[in-house]
Amino acid sequence: MKITIVAGARPNFVKIAPIMDAIRERNIKLNCISYRLIHTGQHFDYLMSHSFFSQLNIPQPDANLDCMSGTHAIQTADIMVKFENELLVNRPDVVLVVGDVTSTMACAISAKKLNIDVVHVEAGIRSGDMNMPEEINRVITDSICNHFFTTTILASNNLKMLNIPNDRIHMVGNTMIDSLYKQLNSAICPSFFKDFSIKEKDYFLLTLHRPSNVDNKDYLLSILETIHQSVDNKIVFFPVHPRTRKILQGFNNFYSNIILVEPQPYLEFLFLLKNCKAIITDSGGISEESTVLNIPCLTLRNSTERPETIELGTNELIGDDFKKLHHCLHVINENKWKTTNIPSLWDGHTAKRIVEILCNVYN
Ligand code: UD1
Repeated sequence: MKITIVAGARPNFVKIAPIMDAIRERNIKLNCISYRLIHTGQHFDYLMSHSFFSQLNIPQPDANLDCMSGTHAIQTADIMVKFENELLVNRPDVVLVVGDVTSTMACAISAKKLNIDVVHVEAGIRSGDMNMPEEINRVITDSICNHFFTTTILASNNLKMLNIPNDRIHMVGNTMIDSLYKQLNSAICPSFFKDFSIKEKDYFLLTLHRPSNVDNKDYLLSILETIHQSVDNKIVFFPVHPRTRKILQGFNNFYSNIILVEPQPYLEFLFLLKNCKAIITDSGGISEESTVLNIPCLTLRNSTERPETIELGTNELIGDDFKKLHHCLHVINENKWKTTNIPSLWDGHTAKRIVEILCNVYN
């Protein structure tokens, strides 16, 4: 089997790492998979990209497309043209894309237009909110794929409702959780953490990068104000995404307990997550990780494509309801938050299942 694997943005790297491991393991025994790993360059900073490759032991990409930042159309078009060139020179049997970022959709389209099979890891999840660029990416990617690897039964059911044949839908679990289990004991305490005399479970963690939360400065500041008022003066570590950093630039009037830090490498972020009292976030992936770690998670969005993290896990949707945010932080401070149940097959072995199925289909 000749396979081309695509990764472009931070969450993709965490999802492909165990797949690369599983391919290498399989090749030691059978040497039956020839792969190319393509980085689109959507994320390019050391902290957003390279640190993930080194910490998660991902092989160096065979090519970096160095795509342009810009509007979604500019980025999509640039990735599509460059990935098409890659496929014309190195034609595989199948292209594997993960997640829901612009690179996922752009590469799926380029491959499919060349009549190359495409498989999607983390297929079938839906928020129902077409204002999210990720939802558009999910719907388009899933509309042209050949095989679908899903994280949950609900995601599989979403695909069945689109009349996708059962034998193309594979409920395999969650590769992001494979990475989590593998790396949990290697978590690294970030250097800034030692400057604060705080104990485990005595601080909060905050991440925000969705356009709906961060692109309007006044709205972003009102989120910070509410958090400041609701955490009993506890420290809140806030690794700031480049998109959010642009909006906050030049604004220095921050709250003394909200500590802005650089985006964290994977292992440092894992340390902060597994030891925090709770996380406030607008990330979908983090709500899955906090569910597995049994860490309370408050999601600042109106919808989620990952409802299991609410029904089974520790997540709660807050939307833009600041009263609810205040109330939930109070409940967490009183140690009265719900405890987790982990969705089935989120067991650390998902990537092996994916590679096994791919070999059965394409070898
Ligand atoms: C992207 C994904 C989102 C994912 C997030 C994780 C899409 C539509 N969105 O959002 O689903 O949750 O990544 O981080 O694909 N930038 C840098 N350095 C970098 C990367 C980005 O400065 O290494 C800047 C870009 O130039 C751009 C902004 O940050 O101005 C946003 O980057 P972009 O890749 O467009 O989307 P994200 O907001 O990161």
